[in-house]
Amino acid sequence: MFTVSLKGGSLISSLSSKSLLFNLKSSVLSTPYSNFSTPVTGLPHPNPNSKLSKSNPKIQIEKRVLCDFPVLNNTARRFSSRTQLVKKTGQSLPVGTFSNFGSITSTTGVLFRNLSSARIQSLPSSREVEVEYQNGKRKKVYVDSRAVGNWLIYLSSMCFGIIVWGGLTRLTESGLSIVEWAPISGVRLPTTEEGWESEFEKYKQFPEYHKVHVGISMEDFKKIYFMEWFHRNIGRLLGVMYIVPAIYFISKGSIHKKNIIKVLGLGSLIGLQGTIGWDMVSSGVNEKFNDVDEAIPRVSQYRLTTHLGAAYLLYILFSMYGFKTVRLNRILNGKIKNLDQIRQTLDRIDVQKFRKATSHVSKFALLTCLSGGMVAGLDAGLVYNEFPLMGGRILPPKSEYWSDNYATDIFGNAQSKIYNLFENPTTVQMIHRTMAITTCFAVSYLWYIGRGLGLNRANRFLVNMSFIVGLTQVGLGIGTLVNYVPVSWASAHQANSVILVATLFGLTNSLKAIPKIV
Ligand code: HEM
Repeated sequence: MFTVSLKGGSLISSLSSKSLLFNLKSSVLSTPYSNFSTPVTGLPHPNPNSKLSKSNPKIQIEKRVLCDFPVLNNTARRFSSRTQLVKKTGQSLPVGTFSNFGSITSTTGVLFRNLSSARIQSLPSSREVEVEYQNGKRKKVYVDSRAVGNWLIYLSSMCFGIIVWGGLTRLTESGLSIVEWAPISGVRLPTTEEGWESEFEKYKQFPEYHKVHVGISMEDFKKIYFMEWFHRNIGRLLGVMYIVPAIYFISKGSIHKKNIIKVLGLGSLIGLQGTIGWDMVSSGVNEKFNDVDEAIPRVSQYRLTTHLGAAYLLYILFSMYGFKTVRLNRILNGKIKNLDQIRQTLDRIDVQKFRKATSHVSKFALLTCLSGGMVAGLDAGLVYNEFPLMGGRILPPKSEYWSDNYATDIFGNAQSKIYNLFENPTTVQMIHRTMAITTCFAVSYLWYIGRGLGLNRANRFLVNMSFIVGLTQVGLGIGTLVNYVPVSWASAHQANSVILVATLFGLTNSLKAIPKIV
């Protein structure tokens, strides 16, 4: 939608076009140049290499307006930042924004004089296009505006930051310092000494104070409290950065109505993630730890892994949706060079087979990350601190990794030995090592195959990057283990795992065949 409304002015008749991306609504200026009721054309930009694009490389043209009013040429270049005026003669006019309409003067007259109160909003629009795949199948694709894509990518980078900070919070044993769930009032840190005292007193009621941070000073309490408070607050900020733009984009039609449910689904995942996070913390402040002497208060490894997994999921979904939207917009706007060549390459059977393999490896890498979450949740990085052997053997003795000790829970209730897979630190670490090495081989294999496929530059970059990031991940994992899980190594290992997963899913996404727009 593109709306022009002029207060105090008298320009312009209503202009709309069925096929079109926008309307111009306004009043008509009683001058000889009132001829704005002109057709408006859609995308793509007719000549991406035009002088105009070159002189304004940063401006992405989303709309073209055919017009024949002879002003604006040589005027202050202020039409909608995403809108190009094209004279009926074919000559392109400057690109700019109407927002400061009053400054526009004409070389030929005074057409736009005294229009300082003009308010023109250029609204990013969504669109519907029909595409045809190589096998002749046609499909409708609903494309959100590029701004929506950028916003989702921004949200995914926030998720990345939150994951890394969450890892630091856990590694510094700070996660259980706020024992209440106060989504609104918890936004602020305590501001007075009494406030801090009260928070500290609450913390002292819980087992972690008595078993982990025994006798911690107020100064140290403030530090761990800050870590957890900041983690929760960037989660809240993510919520706000989702909700406010989502309302704006939906109301302005930038998100296609067929995609609204998807976008709302992503938003509800953010809310769910907050709830899982609190559920996880509450498992760690549970009083059961007071009843069993040897029980160290820690969050359940199941809930930690669920929280971690949901964070990866959010990250992947935001970034995949975001990059897909940006890519579609770039295609529609004629911004991708050699599009036909790339399309031909991606349509090849060997490339699509490679894409399938990449998709499997991405999912396996994600599972490896979840197994890492189990290692972290059980502090299983503090056993067998050597590599590649475990206790001088390839595998530890069966009596250890399939132990009877895990046939009962901490209260002595009988359970299946299968629980060794999730609760025995030796077994959990063994699984993580095995999965990690498999991921490493798989990524190396992808690199070996991918190099010979003649992919375009962006995909070659992602293939190389996943190989390098995969090897780095294994190096960081080994470093974390043999150094007894210091915060620096463990945090780098966690951050790099997100980059690995992002690269692999990004590669899978960008290897998708590009259908023709019909
Ligand atoms: C592709 C390979 C790998 C991936 C994707 C991966 C992923 C992960 C992830 C996501 C975590 C959880 C981090 C956290 O929540 O703090 C983790 C933890 C861990 N990983 Fe890996 N890892 C890989 C390789 C390895 C290797 C080869 C080793 C060592 C042999 C290793 C040892 C560990 C240890 C000890 C932890 C626990 C760290 C802690 O307590 O914070 N990882 N891994």
